[in-house]
Formats: sequence, structure tokens, C-alpha cells
Amino acid sequence: MQLERILQSQGFGTRKECRALIRQGRCAVNAEIIDDPFAELAPAGLAFAIDGEPWRYREKAYVLLHKPADTECSRSPRGYPGVLSLLPRPLYERGMQSVGRLDVDTTGLLLLTDDGAFIHAVTSPKRKVNKVYRVTAKHPMTPAMLQQLVDGVVLNDAPDPVAGIAAVPVSDTVFDLTIREGRYHQVKRMVAAAGNRVESLCRIAVGGLTLPTDMAPGGWRWLEEEDLKTLWGANVGDPGDDGEEA
Ligand code: URA
Repeated sequence: MQLERILQSQGFGTRKECRALIRQGRCAVNAEIIDDPFAELAPAGLAFAIDGEPWRYREKAYVLLHKPADTECSRSPRGYPGVLSLLPRPLYERGMQSVGRLDVDTTGLLLLTDDGAFIHAVTSPKRKVNKVYRVTAKHPMTPAMLQQLVDGVVLNDAPDPVAGIAAVPVSDTVFDLTIREGRYHQVKRMVAAAGNRVESLCRIAVGGLTLPTDMAPGGWRWLEEEDLKTLWGANVGDPGDDGEEA
């Protein structure tokens, strides 16, 4: 593939912009500046640098972000900074978006990608990818409240009860709730329906992936092949089952 097309695919601008960038001597491959935009290179696994910053060619990009509070998942945020502003600009340019959405005040594990099929697969309840939320409630969670969350609570937008997969106490007011759907404000509404109120919410796991304990809010890392296997390796069910779209 021509070098200018490789850079374009990775979010470094239009073909024309990438051509100019290369001609300006800003692109290196194997520590050697290449100023020919039409140089033919095999993209798979290509390591290159732009203005000295190392990159690797990725046909599709997958990222795990520790979403901080007061950020929006939308690509066109309205009231708060968008989560994509926490990533290098080329990731925005290549069309990355969040895999499902977390509320502005929710923190924790957020996946982002430019792979539409992946987004669909992770957010479809048919694939049964568990999402675990660490919930801090306003009042102590009684055993009856926790039980209600797994038995099922009725939310105001659907007649059928919604049941969590597990509700495990961490302390009096903190517990981990596992759900598979991704309905609007689902955890907050479930907890309200059980007679309590969410004070703060942090997503700590999606499938087999957990929020790294050493990753500060705003931190991120690439997800590699192995990570995607880890994601799918846990709690993934039969795609034939019914369920709501997330
Ligand atoms: N449930 C909520 O209520 N909010 C979130 O951000 C995610 C799940």
C-alpha cells in the first residue's frame, strides 16, 4: 500500500495532507525518514513514527479508556468534553467511537473502536457480554434490595422486569452489579426501583476485561488480539438468544 494511503487510513488527514506530511520529512519507517508518499509498504504490523512519535498500523483500532467523570461519550459533545478528546487526534479522525455509552457522571472502563461490527457484538445482549458496575448507594443496601436486583425490577419504559446477573455487596453502601443490557440509565433506575439511590457509578468490567487498578481516570491503552480474546473469553453466551439492543 502507498505510504500516503497508509497514513490516511490511520487518521493522519486527507490523502493530500498525508502526502504533504510525508514530503515535509515528518514520517519515519524503521527509524528512517521516508519522503516519498508513493513508497509501497506492507501495512500489516508496520511500525512508523510521525514527528518522532511511534505508531503501529492497525487495520481496526481498539482502546480501553478509564473514563473520568464530567465527560461525554458522544463524538459531538454538548456540555462536557468528549471522551475522544482524551485520545490522540488521529483516533478521532479515523472515526473511533465509544462502545455503548456511559452517563456524564459515570466513570470507569470504556471501550472505543472504529470497528462497527465489534460495537454491535459487544452491545447486543444476544452476545451476553456482562458489564459490572461498582455502585455506591446513598443508603445501606439491605439483603432484600440486593435480592430484588437479581430477581428483577420493573423499569418505567418496559413491562417486563429487568434482572441483574449478580449483586454482590462490598460494604454497607457499595456493591457490584452485573448486567447484560445497556438501557438508558439502567443501573440508576434499577437501584431506584429497589428503593435506594445511586450516589456514584464506576464500570469495573466488560466481559473478561477489567479496569486496570493502576490506570488513573483519563488514562488509556491499546487493546491487542490477546485482550480481545480476554474480553470474549468470559460470560459470552449464545448469539441466538433474544434480548434488547444496548
Ligand atoms: N447505568 C447507568 O445508570 N448509567 C451508566 O452510565 C451506565 C449504566
